[in-house]
Amino acid sequence: MGNQIKIINNGPLVVSGDFQLSDSQGNEFSKREKIFLCRCGHSNNKPFCDGSHKKAGFESSPKFSS
Ligand code: FES
Repeated sequence: MGNQIKIINNGPLVVSGDFQLSDSQGNEFSKREKIFLCRCGHSNNKPFCDGSHKKAGFESSPKFSS
């Protein structure tokens, strides 16, 4: 599959494929094929998920209607 962004229930966004991640200054993060982006705001390693969403009790399970 090509580029994909997947929402993990009660957890991060999983971004996979051929993409570029940069900060607000345009600095690029090291190239990876898959990253987990924090969605809860509790990570100590933003923008990446460090698992803190579990301890924080983050709850979010968005569903798309087709
Ligand atoms: S989503 Fe995992 S630490 Fe925020």
